[in-house]
Amino acid sequence: MRIDKYLANMNVGSRKEVHALIKKGVVTVNSEGVKTPKQQVKESDEVLVDGQEIKYQKYHYFLMNKPKGVLSATEDRSQRTVISLLKSQDRYQGIAPVGRLDKDTTGLLLLTNDGQLNHELLAPNKHVDKIYRAKIAGVVDGETVKTFAMGITLGDGTKLKPAELKILKQDQLNDCSEIEIKIREGKYHQIKRMFGAVRMKVVELERIKMGNLTLPQDLRLGDYIELSLEKIKNIK
Ligand code: URA
Repeated sequence: MRIDKYLANMNVGSRKEVHALIKKGVVTVNSEGVKTPKQQVKESDEVLVDGQEIKYQKYHYFLMNKPKGVLSATEDRSQRTVISLLKSQDRYQGIAPVGRLDKDTTGLLLLTNDGQLNHELLAPNKHVDKIYRAKIAGVVDGETVKTFAMGITLGDGTKLKPAELKILKQDQLNDCSEIEIKIREGKYHQIKRMFGAVRMKVVELERIKMGNLTLPQDLRLGDYIELSLEKIKNIK
């Protein structure tokens, strides 16, 4: 591919900015100065800008702690999306969240420009386990655990797969609970609708696990980390 495309793809700058860098003489390929933006390079070449190596990496994977108030979407006419939380150099072409968390849900959200992986993780027969923590208005008890374990039927008749529900805290006096729930599917508003089906309400919802990925405890809301390909390969 052309050196200007290579550098632009690696977010070194826009095509125009990259052309300026080449003109300035600060770009080298395998220790040779680059004279024209048309020069061809391979992904295995050693490319330096101002002495700093720019490795070619086609796909990027970010694990974000999604805050409340932003949409899990790539764009929206009137509301902020999770893409706006990425630094400009991380806004790779095609980057998108893998699945959705509701606007008021926090926690683990994967973002990638690897369309194939995104598609695979969302395909109905390939869904990975997801674990959520939630505060519930209502007392979750052994009966609720059993109902969820058998596979609940939603108000619209949708029959869900069995879900593992763990009670973390049960407060009879204040009629509320804290729970952890593991689900395999990813239906629209799934957890909220599951509790709705047993006449309870989700007050707070946070995703803490997806496949083998865990939300790091020290990752602040709105922050994100880049994941290695190795880590992603084992997600399923
Ligand atoms: N289930 C929900 O109800 N909302 C989410 O954001 C995720 C799962």
